[in-house]
Amino acid sequence: MKEKDKKLTDIIDGMSLEDKALMLTQYPIDSICGNKEIVTGCWDMDGMTNDMIMRVGTVLNVANGETADRIRAIRKENGIDDPLMFMLDVIHGYRTIFPIPLAMACSFDTELVEECARIAAVEAAADGVDATFSPMVDLARDARWGRVMETAGEDPYLGGEMGKAYIRGYHNGGLACCVKHFAAYGAAEGGRDYDTTDVSERSLNEHYLRAYCECVKEKPEMFMSSFNLLNGKPLLAHPELTVDKLRDEWGFNGVLISDYNAVRELNVHGYAATPRDCALTAFNAELDIEMCSPCYANNLPDLVREGVVDEKSLDEKVYRVLKMKDRCGLYDIDKSTDTQKRDKITLCEEFRAAAKKAEERSCVLLKNDGVLPLKKSANIALVGPFADEKYIFGHWASTGRADDVVTVQQGIERTLGRTVESEKGCSYDLLSDDESGFDAAVRFAQNSDVIVACVGEHMYNSGESHSRADIALPKVQTALLHRLKTLGKPVVLVVFGGRPLALTDVLPLSDAVLYAWQGGTECGSAIASLLYGDAVPSAKTVMSFPRSSGQCPIYYNHFQTGRPRASGKPAVLSGDICTVGYDDEYNDPLFPFGYGLSYTTFDYSDLKLDKAKMRRDGKITATVTVNNTGDRDGTEIVQWYIRDKFASVVRPVKELKGYERVELKAGESKTVRFEITKDTLAFFTDGGAFDAESGDFDLFVGGNSRDCLQTGFALVD
Ligand code: NOJ
Repeated sequence: MKEKDKKLTDIIDGMSLEDKALMLTQYPIDSICGNKEIVTGCWDMDGMTNDMIMRVGTVLNVANGETADRIRAIRKENGIDDPLMFMLDVIHGYRTIFPIPLAMACSFDTELVEECARIAAVEAAADGVDATFSPMVDLARDARWGRVMETAGEDPYLGGEMGKAYIRGYHNGGLACCVKHFAAYGAAEGGRDYDTTDVSERSLNEHYLRAYCECVKEKPEMFMSSFNLLNGKPLLAHPELTVDKLRDEWGFNGVLISDYNAVRELNVHGYAATPRDCALTAFNAELDIEMCSPCYANNLPDLVREGVVDEKSLDEKVYRVLKMKDRCGLYDIDKSTDTQKRDKITLCEEFRAAAKKAEERSCVLLKNDGVLPLKKSANIALVGPFADEKYIFGHWASTGRADDVVTVQQGIERTLGRTVESEKGCSYDLLSDDESGFDAAVRFAQNSDVIVACVGEHMYNSGESHSRADIALPKVQTALLHRLKTLGKPVVLVVFGGRPLALTDVLPLSDAVLYAWQGGTECGSAIASLLYGDAVPSAKTVMSFPRSSGQCPIYYNHFQTGRPRASGKPAVLSGDICTVGYDDEYNDPLFPFGYGLSYTTFDYSDLKLDKAKMRRDGKITATVTVNNTGDRDGTEIVQWYIRDKFASVVRPVKELKGYERVELKAGESKTVRFEITKDTLAFFTDGGAFDAESGDFDLFVGGNSRDCLQTGFALVD
């Protein structure tokens, strides 16, 4: 055994059964003490005494270095030598907040994501945080689900690439991290957070598990199990996933932590009758840390004494937790916060600049009838509930503060170097019907050259436990846009959302739509740069924009079915019946996956393959010419898709296999290359193997998943 390992096993040898169970228990600092100040001196929680609380191995929700220092000191005074580990949800920034992960994914820029994660880690680590519960790589196909904002959208491959970028960034910045929520948490019925999931083994393997599996390659310290019932059993009752798949097949040897209270909820689900059964179920699923419930702490020691669980298995779990602490250096240094260093780096200009760049690359230009970019001399009427709103930085914003945020109005003022006014017109409340501000907004806009309307959903209407049944723009905002439209002026919509909203009703009321998502601390300055053309939009949406809530779930990589509706139109318009579709709605989304405009235009031509047939050990190189046909420099995100035409298991109509951000000067052309090997074509075949099958394939390339050039090739034995 290596020397370091012996150091850890010696520690374990000196621990009581009670200490071991507590090492596997995590509580939030605030619920322990009623405030965020101390870790001791509090009341019982389901049998957790003050003494037990004092000896837990890890805590969450400490977001302040001084507090962390005090807690460490108190533990020392109480004779506890083991270093406590501090964890927090650092999701899209710590104090400098970046756009929500869904927005960041629209940049298709893994280097940018990595850098933003590094900055988040540097800020958090300097303030006492040891680990973050990020990245979340759940697949998101249903925009009603509030947590789509934390994901990379509907493509499993992109989800894995983004997840790996976050992990690299956190590690470079000195933070341990946690891939979550294992597994299939995003498939919640009806898009309701925490709700039941029912996913076939095939779909799990092909779609839902893929990004988690990719992430293992970057060696995250933790995985978090999810809350949901999956195919009739809570996640922690699926050892075939948490043990066979995660540990044995994928080789993950880090810590598996539960989600908040999820061990106790095994009982609420109707699966485990007592806290003791909850502990046993989770233990058998190889759960290492129980977050925010005391089933392990109260039951594991007796379960060992009674011979129901093996102490060796308990020791293995404790070892994994100690190993993680060791990997974070907690046994090597006596940690204390360098407040000077922290205060110097926190929210520094360099970090703010990175946040601005990130939002510039995340905003998706969905429509532009020539009104954007705005002329700096134009007289704009800035209206809408988000025109001068600071709560546009996004849910799950860690220690981010609204006061730090640049509003759209402030961003425009900085860009123009003069004062700008705004008028709300209405509230952002989802169910508001108060139109009393409309007249003032209309009067305000009357003499303008162009109206910039900042509308959307509030950042607290997406995120955990904030699912929505109707994802259209709130009615009062739509009504405001109707009134503004009567002025006959060009209308630019800047839309805020933690999800792709259904914009069907408001699209005709606008001349341009810039989708800003929730954009972090520098949201307003980035939007201003884009509106005035100091930056050029390049992002492409990573979730299909539904036309209506009833289309959800909707995703580009669906199956053809045996009865595809060629027109894709509602039956009442097309007369198409006995084909897949609705009587009253189109099949396709309002904007497809991968879609986004620029201030210039790109043309694709000359799609060529160096050969039409490929052997299993061979490769095909595809090339395409991409030409910037406009008069501005810009960046195009070139996307490569494949369809396996016939296979032992039917393949989706398109699957993203590669992408590249290509910078092109006005008028410039570049040849973009894509290599296809057997691995590009592999999937879980009918026999269960991950392999490619011989046959014919379609290759698509384009600037979105709908409008592509197409060719074909074959894989031969
Ligand atoms: C519950 C959430 O589902 C999870 O994502 C988060 O990391 C934990 N709470 C801890 O805050």
